[in-house]
Amino acid sequence: MKTTLKGLGAALCVALPFIAQGPADAATLAANSAATPAADQSLVQRGAYLAQLGDCAACHTAPKGKPFAGGLPMNTPMGRIYTTNITPDAQTGIGGYTEAEFAQALREGVAKDGHNLYPAMPYPSYAKVNDDDVKALYAFFMHGVTPVQQANREPDIKWPLNMRWPLKLWNMAFLEKGAYRDKPGKDAAWNRGAYLVQGLGHCGSCHTPRGVAFQESALDESGSAFLSGAPLDGWFAANLTGEHNAGLGRWSDEDLRTFLKTGANRHASAFGSMTSVINNSTQGMSDTDVAAVATYLKSLPSVGGNGAPPYTYDPKATKVSLDRPANDAGARVYTAYCMHCHGAGGQGFAPMLAPLAGNPNVLAKDASSLINVTLNGTGDLVINGVPSPFPMPGFAAVLDDQQIADVLSFVRAGWNNGAPAVGAAEVAKLRQSTQAAR
Ligand code: HEC
Ligand code: HEC
Ligand code: HEC
Repeated sequence: MKTTLKGLGAALCVALPFIAQGPADAATLAANSAATPAADQSLVQRGAYLAQLGDCAACHTAPKGKPFAGGLPMNTPMGRIYTTNITPDAQTGIGGYTEAEFAQALREGVAKDGHNLYPAMPYPSYAKVNDDDVKALYAFFMHGVTPVQQANREPDIKWPLNMRWPLKLWNMAFLEKGAYRDKPGKDAAWNRGAYLVQGLGHCGSCHTPRGVAFQESALDESGSAFLSGAPLDGWFAANLTGEHNAGLGRWSDEDLRTFLKTGANRHASAFGSMTSVINNSTQGMSDTDVAAVATYLKSLPSVGGNGAPPYTYDPKATKVSLDRPANDAGARVYTAYCMHCHGAGGQGFAPMLAPLAGNPNVLAKDASSLINVTLNGTGDLVINGVPSPFPMPGFAAVLDDQQIADVLSFVRAGWNNGAPAVGAAEVAKLRQSTQAAR
């Protein structure tokens, strides 16, 4: 009864913002109207920008769904769960949340009614968000988002795995409470970058390898595994440390800014789950913020190299097999299916057509991203509202597992790339578990 009344109060407050008193719960009304004054429009706007930095839409807006109404399925080790409705609808969304309750959900993973959220919601990263930014985010979700009535879907996880109380123990072990604090001896840009990367940007939730309990094995640069690259849903989220082959060691600050703003640069282009990060989040970063992120990432020391010297381009070895492709199964596939876009020299036409020579994704030990992108292609990068004019086609229907293994082994050996070969079994596995980009 109490919740219904509270809900009613909040609904009235949203629907009739100019009628200050309602018959229902006065506390809810006060909490909701506290951030309402028109003067706080700038707070709402700042919150909208922060929601973009946090990429809330990537998970809380389902494809073809209403903004922030939830319903996106997400796979977890225990089973499938669904993101929730975070519009200010009082019954089905978070309209009844006070700012303190919102802060608790965001930073500690505890919902209003006290149940623990699965860490598929990246609260271990959002824990770093400071109070000012939580306030602005709250103002945006209460006053800048249209309420949508859409009930949440129960997780498809069977008893006993669906019990949420063990998450309390998980949080005790792995959640680091307390907002980000500037590191002394580092300049403002570095600290801003660290705050964004570790906090709202939650880059580590994909790029940091996970431990036995699926926790990120480091939440900041004090742990060497931080952002050193990790497998994820059929992709490999690249090494973002200073490693000079599979990492960002050969990228300049400007290369990095260009990638985050446009999804491509002279070294590589975005695909897989990075596409939605660029579409919904990083392309909208202010110039200062994207520069801060680049400054911070470029300060990370090299982790995870295999001892090989930095890559240098060399077309010679590859040219021999390309001149006589009959002798090399991989070269045969490459000349027939790939060369007209990626070039005999493997350099493509960056940034439009990605280079394969020296590309960190090609040089990485884990070949999942290469296999996945060759099977399924790309096609969903949208910059400033314009879809990418040159997507990579998928070859799942054209090439069998052995042909894809051959061509990728050829690419990984070619142009001095020096990366290990790819096996047909690996391709078969990803063919089963992944699907076309479009
Ligand atoms: C990587 C995916 C992901 C991102 C990004 C994400 N969330 Fe979530 N969020 C979830 C999932 C999944 C749940 C539900 C978890 C559960 O049911 O245990 C959730 C739950 C919530 C809840 C609890 C709502 C309720 O009552 O059920 C709030 C509040 C929330 N998210 C806010 C945000 C905000 C604000 C942002 C952006 C700053 C954000 N989320 C970004 C996945 C995400
Ligand atoms: C949802 C998962 C996910 C999140 C969150 C994410 N990334 Fe990525 N990222 C990936 C994947 C997968 C790749 C590999 C595919 C590619 O190169 O585009 C990647 C690639 C990259 C690359 C290109 C590296 C290379 O060597 O080609 C950069 C740079 C990058 N991410 C930066 C970031 C930053 C900065 C953040 C946080 C603001 C971030 N990512 C958040 C999944 C993610
Ligand atoms: C029609 C042109 C075209 C053809 C043909 C083509 N590609 Fe691509 N490829 C692209 C484009 C464009 C991208 C960048 C895609 C993006 O970011 O959306 C790309 C990206 C890639 C990447 C990811 C590189 C990175 O990190 O950015 C790999 C690996 C790749 N292609 C391999 C292949 C292989 C192997 C073949 C042949 C079987 C092939 N491509 C055929 C256009 C093509």
